[in-house]
Amino acid sequence: MAAPLILVLNGPNLNLLGTREPAVYGTGTLDDLETLCAETAEGLGVSIDFRQSNHEGELITWIQEARASAAGLIINPAGYSHTSIALMDALAALDIPVIEVHLSNIHKREPFRQHSYVSHAATGVICGLGFAGYRLALIALSDILEEEDQ
Ligand code: DQA
Repeated sequence: MAAPLILVLNGPNLNLLGTREPAVYGTGTLDDLETLCAETAEGLGVSIDFRQSNHEGELITWIQEARASAAGLIINPAGYSHTSIALMDALAALDIPVIEVHLSNIHKREPFRQHSYVSHAATGVICGLGFAGYRLALIALSDILEEEDQ
């Protein structure tokens, strides 16, 4: 049987990881993050499709496409977390588990970051753990998919 596919989406400005506010987001790059996710996925027996976009519509198209192709979805919606009802609606239309990840602890930051529309459509939310949050999200999704399979 083919390994279940997990789509890992990253929103705006995450392409700048490594140089963008390193005190908040760390010094690792998006490529480093993809490598960590790929290695974690391999150990778990799942496959990943790792993407980043600065465009809300492109993220929404990818989420819609996941309806047909993915078994689970991880998303760091970045700034769109706090603004995008459209992204929330696209996620709500999915019937696969969704984990929202933030590198920083959004609840410890400015008030406008403390609400996420995306959380309304997420199965679970991880924040404040840096890159490890993605690793934990992959482990959680792989557990959920295994349980669904039984
Ligand atoms: C972020 C937190 C958001 O508030 C911010 O706009 C980001 C990154 C995080 O990973 O901590 O771009 O999603």
